[in-house]
Amino acid sequence: MVNTRHLPVMVNEVCSFLSGSGEKREVLLDCTVGGGGHALALLSSSPNLFLIGIDRDPKAIEESTKSLTEFKERIELHCARFSQVKKILKDRKVNKVLVDLGTRREQIFSEKGFSFRDQELDMRMDPDTKLTAEEVVNKSSCEELIKIFQEGGVRRYLKKVARAIEDARPIKSAKHLAQVIERAIPVKERVKKPYIHPATVYFQAIRIYINQELEELKALLEVLPLVVADGAIVCIISYHSLEDKLVASTFRYWAHPQREPALLSFKKPAQQPLGTLLTKKPLKSSKEEIDKNFSARSARLRVFKFKE
Ligand SMILES: C[S@@+](CC[C@H](N)C(=O)[O-])C[C@H]1O[C@@H](n2cnc3c(N)ncnc32)[C@H](O)[C@@H]1O
Repeated sequence: MVNTRHLPVMVNEVCSFLSGSGEKREVLLDCTVGGGGHALALLSSSPNLFLIGIDRDPKAIEESTKSLTEFKERIELHCARFSQVKKILKDRKVNKVLVDLGTRREQIFSEKGFSFRDQELDMRMDPDTKLTAEEVVNKSSCEELIKIFQEGGVRRYLKKVARAIEDARPIKSAKHLAQVIERAIPVKERVKKPYIHPATVYFQAIRIYINQELEELKALLEVLPLVVADGAIVCIISYHSLEDKLVASTFRYWAHPQREPALLSFKKPAQQPLGTLLTKKPLKSSKEEIDKNFSARSARLRVFKFKE
């Protein structure tokens, strides 16, 4: 049976960087609180930690409200997006930040058509997002689909798949879309990674586009230097190379603003190093963790410490 419950990734590694240091009250901003997996581990291990958790998915806020109930005096949860962090914090500064990008298993297995089952094509992570996967798949031109795939990190068979989608319209379910994509990809390619559905990267690109995931991540990275206290530590876990590249280049820019180009538009461009990289290379999940939790296979954890 498929496990539909989300297991938090690299919990020990995250706790080793973010657990509270003894007596001092510290504030942790969990930007992707989800079902509260990491939050629970951090609150349990750090009695002086106060957690501000946000998630764009109202179901995640419902779940974490339940799972963190024993810590209700030490948490504040908000249904919001990364781009609303400044508004939520107002003038408060945070000592720790956790960002665990991507989706929860509960989202993947919801009725929103994130997976390849016989469901409506939706893929919206929150009800404020207007565009649905059904509109993208059935109304975009071939060129628009190719651009969505390209910007979503797909490297091969973009044109073939876009044309196959155009020819198969109307596409009414996630299962139908997955079949159309699978048929458009040559068999020799499909057998290379039999454990991953060939439609995975195309679905991911559509999801990234609909939810404006890279724009949201950019907005968060731009605002972080303005909302952290001295000595703050930021942990970011990415699950695909587009996110990881953005995080890696931003951390390098914060560490060496004179030598690294700023890919983002910072309100206050850094004149001097803002701090140091605690992970020169990203940390990855152990083999034991991947054996228990397949989603952990692509996790990359990068950590940055702002100056004291
Ligand atoms: C991998 S899950 C986090 C799981 C969580 N760390 C746990 O242990 O339960 C990612 C979560 O981030 C949320 N999310 C993704 N993009 C977001 C954004 N731009 N703003 C707020 N939340 C976002 C998703 O809704 C999802 O619940």
